[in-house]
Amino acid sequence: MALKFVTDESFKAQAKDKKVLARFDFNVPMDKKDPAVIADYTRIDEAIPTIKAILEAGAKKVILMSHFGRPNGKVDPKYSLEPVAKALAERLGVDVTLTETALDRGIKTLLSLNEAKIILLQNIRFHAEEEANDREFARTLSNYGDVFVFDAFGAAHRKHASTYEINAFFKNRAFGGLLLKREVEALEKITKNPKKPFVAVVGGAKVSDKIKIIESLLTDVDHLLIGGAMAYPFLKAKGFSIGKSLCSDEDVTLAKMILNLPTKNKIVLPSDHIASTSLDGEPVDVAQVSIDGDLIGLDIGPSTLVHYSSILKGAKTVLWNGPMGLFENPKFAKGTFGIAETLSELNAFTLVGGGDSVAAVKQAGLSEKMSHISTGGGASLEFIENGTLPGIQALKFGVESYIGIE
Ligand code: 3PG
Ligand code: MG
Repeated sequence: MALKFVTDESFKAQAKDKKVLARFDFNVPMDKKDPAVIADYTRIDEAIPTIKAILEAGAKKVILMSHFGRPNGKVDPKYSLEPVAKALAERLGVDVTLTETALDRGIKTLLSLNEAKIILLQNIRFHAEEEANDREFARTLSNYGDVFVFDAFGAAHRKHASTYEINAFFKNRAFGGLLLKREVEALEKITKNPKKPFVAVVGGAKVSDKIKIIESLLTDVDHLLIGGAMAYPFLKAKGFSIGKSLCSDEDVTLAKMILNLPTKNKIVLPSDHIASTSLDGEPVDVAQVSIDGDLIGLDIGPSTLVHYSSILKGAKTVLWNGPMGLFENPKFAKGTFGIAETLSELNAFTLVGGGDSVAAVKQAGLSEKMSHISTGGGASLEFIENGTLPGIQALKFGVESYIGIE
């Protein structure tokens, strides 16, 4: 069964004069200084074309739902979708009614009224049943709509009630949104015969989070350039000193395992660093692989940047996930911004995923120069690893527990 999208004629036929329930990923980052202010609107902006397509198909009502943060199954005003409701209303030019909770009794009334055309359910993770992928919870949600649209690419790697189990109740009435379509098309340029040379740049903090993807990437790529805090466990595993750089014993064990793979020669590690004695200290040039004493590695050094850029210059496909250092501090941002600049000049398919690397590319003003910026960090990595995601599989085929039940 092929994935059906909101652009298909069958969607238009089914959505006309009906209630459309749509799952998005409105889990937007908030400003660190003012937690009521949205720091990046990308996930909201990227949802608008799908909401418009639903309205243009003649839907009577659109019921939007999303998670926001990790409130752990409890109501927590800190994680209210209120700022998102406001941003949506501004962008759509119509009122967006935010419900008190996703199980609010008032929803029934709202659904029968002529007004309140666009309803946003309050944070779906205020209910523990969401992350438990609870069938009854999914059934209640499914009763809000006649047709289901899934456009939450950034959460499609989660097997939750609103991303997965809900598909049990929309057989043949479930459609993918426009963002999901674009994300899948872009990622398939990497999963299905990427143009060679294929180079991946992986950074960020924890090896353990990305270990599986590194292992599978190594079979596909020509070179895997490692930077940021990701590099230190690898350097330590190779016997270099890393000073006080971020590194857990578990990560060193994992790095050793990777360095024993037959594909290990594709791994490229930093040959110099920018370090400091603290995260906001003065930068120190470390013109060698080893970092000594009390120094903490906080960015790749200039020779490493030149070396990585020269490898990238020959690439036809590039995947970038994770920054090369503590780029939030301008003293340690040269490596990350340097990689962003190199990518922006390539004649290659460049895909950037993961909250931090996307933020860095945006800060550098270079997002227009990338072939694709993914709204999913974990989701894009898992897609590359497995060629699909649970939320996409369920949308296509229904949920396992449903199969056989008519
Ligand atoms: C994300 O921001 O990565 C997605 O919205 C998923 O959120 P989660 O990691 O809390 O499941
Ligand atoms: Mg995440």
